[in-house]
Amino acid sequence: MTDAPVLVAEDLVGGYVAEVDILRGCALTAGEGEIVVVIGPNGAGKSTLVKAIFGLVPLRQGTVTLHGTDVTGQRPNRISALGMSYVPQVNNVFPSLTIQENLEMGAANSRATMDERMDAMYALFPRLRERRRNRAEGLSGGERQMLAVARALMPEPSVLLLDEPSAGLAPKAVGEVFETVQQVNASGVTIVMIEQNARAALALADRGYVLEGGQNRFTGKGADLLDDPQVAELYLGGGAAGRE
Ligand SMILES: Nc1ncnc2c1ncn2[C@@H]1O[C@H](COP(=O)(O)OP(=O)(O)O)[C@@H](O)[C@H]1O
Ligand SMILES: [Mg+2]
Repeated sequence: MTDAPVLVAEDLVGGYVAEVDILRGCALTAGEGEIVVVIGPNGAGKSTLVKAIFGLVPLRQGTVTLHGTDVTGQRPNRISALGMSYVPQVNNVFPSLTIQENLEMGAANSRATMDERMDAMYALFPRLRERRRNRAEGLSGGERQMLAVARALMPEPSVLLLDEPSAGLAPKAVGEVFETVQQVNASGVTIVMIEQNARAALALADRGYVLEGGQNRFTGKGADLLDDPQVAELYLGGGAAGRE
């Protein structure tokens, strides 16, 4: 184990079609065990950034390094095998499958390891154990996100990419999702999370990024971004930190 960051994305340029660059030179670093939060307005390229990191969007320039290995342009299954998982914002569980089946779908390993991982997930999320024979469509919004996270954790990743895990949830469920994220992080998983609940998310962040127009606008410790009057004014709905 070294002090090198677990994930480094540098100078990323790319997008969905050849003529249109959505990412225009943005960068992101995640240190071992950190929670990294990405905020920014709609259309800033946040989702595109994590998709590009996970090999789902073609890059025309830049590099992505995971545990010191260059994974630029690699396929998602290869990146997953190297220890990174991704939870998309929507369609992140199979509604008609049971909770148990969803977890099985997330596993990329042998039966023995799978049972072990399943037990680990049920230990982390007891509510999923209780309901393991139920279809995912019966879960509440917050429970669904728990399942999506658990599914992504099945291959035992060291880095988890989360695209707006609290989107569309009731306030109580938002708090639960953030607790889940902290719990997963405490178990040793490095987190990169996009969030619209920017204040609450930055409050948890070791490192924060404000993205706009496919470029980094502000970068700093989560607490420092919260205290930055310009960030507050432009991206946090105004007002100083801690006074909402
Ligand atoms: N699948 C896609 N195909 C083409 N353009 C897309 C696609 N997804 C997003 N975009 C465009 O990329 C830009 C950035 O989108 P996105 O990364 O989703 O922003 P954010 O997550 O910050 O709201 C937007 O202009 C959006 O219209
Ligand atoms: Mg998005």
